[in-house]
Amino acid sequence: MPWTINDAKNQSGRLAIVTGANIGLGFDTALALAGKGCAVILACRSADKAKAARQQILAAHPKATVECMTLDLSSLKSVRAFAMAFKKKHKTLDLLINNAGIMMPPYSLSEDGFESQLAANYLGHFVLTAELLPLLNATSGARVVSLSSLAHRWGGIRFDDPNFTQGYNKRSAYGQSKLACLMFAYELDRRLRAAGSTTLSVAAHPGVAATNLAQHFPKALGVFFPLVGQSTAMGAMPTLYAALGDDIEGGDYCGPRSLQQMRGDPVKVGSNRASRNVSDAKKLWALSEQLTGTTFVV
Ligand SMILES: NC(=O)c1ccc[n+]([C@@H]2O[C@H](COP(=O)([O-])OP(=O)(O)OC[C@H]3O[C@@H](n4cnc5c(N)ncnc54)[C@H](OP(=O)(O)O)[C@@H]3O)[C@@H](O)[C@H]2O)c1
Repeated sequence: MPWTINDAKNQSGRLAIVTGANIGLGFDTALALAGKGCAVILACRSADKAKAARQQILAAHPKATVECMTLDLSSLKSVRAFAMAFKKKHKTLDLLINNAGIMMPPYSLSEDGFESQLAANYLGHFVLTAELLPLLNATSGARVVSLSSLAHRWGGIRFDDPNFTQGYNKRSAYGQSKLACLMFAYELDRRLRAAGSTTLSVAAHPGVAATNLAQHFPKALGVFFPLVGQSTAMGAMPTLYAALGDDIEGGDYCGPRSLQQMRGDPVKVGSNRASRNVSDAKKLWALSEQLTGTTFVV
C-alpha cells in the first residue's frame, strides 16, 4: 500500500518550519502538517503572501497554530536574522523543511555575490540548517528535509566556478543547486550518524508538479509542467513522507513512484552517482562553509 498522509501520526505538540510556504509545494506541505496538528512556521520572503497563506490554512484548519516569519534565503543576513528571531522564541524544532526554490531565472548575483539559484536553493538552506541544528538536536525525533529534483542529474558541481562567472547556463545552474541540496542531505546524514545524533537528514523531490516554478520557462516548455505535472497536493507527498513516514531512515530520498519518478505515490527512490560521491560531498561542504563564512558544527 502506498504511503498517504493518513498513515502519519498526529503531530500535536510538534513544530515545523517550512521555507517558501506561501504557495506551491511548500503551501501544501504546511497545509498538510497543520491538518495533522503540527504547529507550522511559514518562512517566506513576502510577509503579505505569508499572511494570505496563513489565512487559507486557518480556513481549512481553524484550530491550527500557524505563524509567519520573514525569510529571504538569497540573503545570508536575512537567514541569520530569521534564525536569531526563531531561537529567541523557541528552544526546540521538530521539522525543518528546506523547500523554497527558484528555477532557471536570468543570470543574477545575490547580495552576497552568489549565483541566484545556488544562493536561494542551496546556500541559504545550508546556513539556515547550520543555525538551527542545535535546536533540532535538542528535539527527539527531529528531521531535516531537503528538496531536490530530477534535475539533480542536469549538472555537476562547478567547484572552480560555482557562481557561473563564466558561461551562465540556467539549466546547469539549476541542476547544480539541486544536486548540491541532495549531496548536502546525504552528507548531513553521514555527519549526524557519526556524531551519534538522533536527528535525521532526508531528501525528497516532487517529480513534476504544476507550480510557479516554471515561470522562467520558454513558452513551449511552459506547457510541459501543467501537462505532465501532478497536483501540488500530490507533489508535496514525497516531502511529507520524508518528514513523517515511520519507516524513513536518515539518508533516504523520497519521490513519486511512476512515470520515471515524475508522478504518483511517494516511495523511496534512488539518485545518480554524482549525488552519492562522498569525497565531492565533503568538498562541497567545505566550499559552502567557505563561501558563506559559516562553521557548520554537527
Ligand atoms: N514543481 C516541480 O515540479 C518541482 C520539481 C522538482 C523540484 N521542485 C522543488 O520544489 C520546491 C518548491 O517549488 P515549487 O514548485 O513549489 O515552486 P513555487 O510554487 O514557485 O514556490 C517556490 C516558493 O519558494 C519561495 N522562494 C523563492 N525564492 C525565495 C527566497 N529567496 N527566499 C524565500 N523564499 C523563496 C517562493 O516565494 P515567492 O512566492 O515569494 O516567490 C515560493 O514560496 C523547490 O525547491 C523546487 O526546486 C519542484
